[in-house]
Amino acid sequence: MKNILLLGSGGREHAIAWKLAQSPLLKKLYIAPGNPGMASQGELVPLDMMDFPAVADFVAEKSIDIVLVGPEVPLVAGLTDYLHSRTDLSGVTVIGPSKDGAQLEGSKDFAKEFMMRHHIPTAAHRTFNGTQIEEGVAFLATMKAPYVLKADGLCAGKGVLILDSLEEAQEKFREMLGGMFGNASASVVVEEFLSGIECSVFVITDGAGHYRILPEAKDYKRIGEHDTGLNTGGMGSVSPVKFATPEWMSKVETRIIIPTVNGLQEEGIDYQGFIFFGLINVEGNPYVIEYNCRMGDPETETVMPRLKSDLVDLLEGVSERNLDQRIVEFDERSAVNVMMVSGGYPGNYAKGFPITGCDEVEGSIVFHSGTAAQDGHIVTAGGRVISVTSYGDTKDEALARSMEGVSKIHYEGKYFRRDIGQDL
Ligand code: AMP
Ligand code: GLY
Repeated sequence: MKNILLLGSGGREHAIAWKLAQSPLLKKLYIAPGNPGMASQGELVPLDMMDFPAVADFVAEKSIDIVLVGPEVPLVAGLTDYLHSRTDLSGVTVIGPSKDGAQLEGSKDFAKEFMMRHHIPTAAHRTFNGTQIEEGVAFLATMKAPYVLKADGLCAGKGVLILDSLEEAQEKFREMLGGMFGNASASVVVEEFLSGIECSVFVITDGAGHYRILPEAKDYKRIGEHDTGLNTGGMGSVSPVKFATPEWMSKVETRIIIPTVNGLQEEGIDYQGFIFFGLINVEGNPYVIEYNCRMGDPETETVMPRLKSDLVDLLEGVSERNLDQRIVEFDERSAVNVMMVSGGYPGNYAKGFPITGCDEVEGSIVFHSGTAAQDGHIVTAGGRVISVTSYGDTKDEALARSMEGVSKIHYEGKYFRRDIGQDL
């Protein structure tokens, strides 16, 4: 029986909490800071996850066995290293890598160099810093459109520019190195453009070379239907992904997952946690677009529902470094998640509108993302507000059920996409 502290407050964390709460191996779940939707799964605690000593004190006080870190920011900032350095916390497992492992997400240049060292398929690239501006501008002129520019550091998903004209790419390249994303774009990765359809693959690994593959998913980033308009934090997801056949997944495993897990071992990086492989399928072959050191949002809202096995058992496998002895089974059904967002998102939007109808959703799962409790009501509190995941024998059936669920939930300015999974 485990006491678990889950850090985070979005739909990803709600889906993880929903899954953890079903486990007979769970003693008590604390969630910091969480959101009102998660209150039925665990005890919400008003902890600031960037206040590392406060998190550590809480872990000690409540005899927490496992800390599961939802988002990347505290990992890249070294939360895991801090918790491991505290002598009063020996025996506590942190799901989420140390600072060096989190560089897979925290530095695009580190990730690219890691892939080069371990012969993992990815787009060709070069990295430039502020002393190499003219070199980079000349390098761009040798490449073909479209041009892919990536800020090296964390940018909350906004640090990638894809441009059709050379002049514009050169101009943006200069702006990025000039501080467009602050320190995050002090180095810029210039990358070959890969054309194909994307898929997110998730692995949990125990730091001893063992791993388990979780259900794959595809997320939908653009605000508009048929993938038009601005990028968002994610408008929905589908799992499984049709082109991720057993044959394709076996290429992913041998060419990408195994070399990544072994590479971490070889480099002496103690990585316990989730690895998110952002992949692109180029004529039947998988390439890595990016790594993340955590689960995806809103992919987790379909991955967790399709994970049949006990998540606490898997976390124990990480803790005991014997994940090879744990079983992962998938639900054969399809799952589709539809995200409801605030009117105006991803631009400016208002918050604080009352949300009604959640209790009327039947046969689907409602996950909260940006919600808050106010005078006994649930109100909107973010761009991505609340989402509905449904199962179906087909993805179309699952989507239809999620549409039905979405139609029951109301708040001023509600917007969502009706085409999740329809491109597959
Ligand atoms: P990232 O922040 O690395 O996930 O990049 C954001 C998005 O840009 C990805 O989800 C892709 O859609 C796109 N992208 C990134 N790198 C490439 C590339 N080399 N070729 C084509 N598209 C890319
Ligand atoms: N859905 C993409 C991400 O979580 O970064």
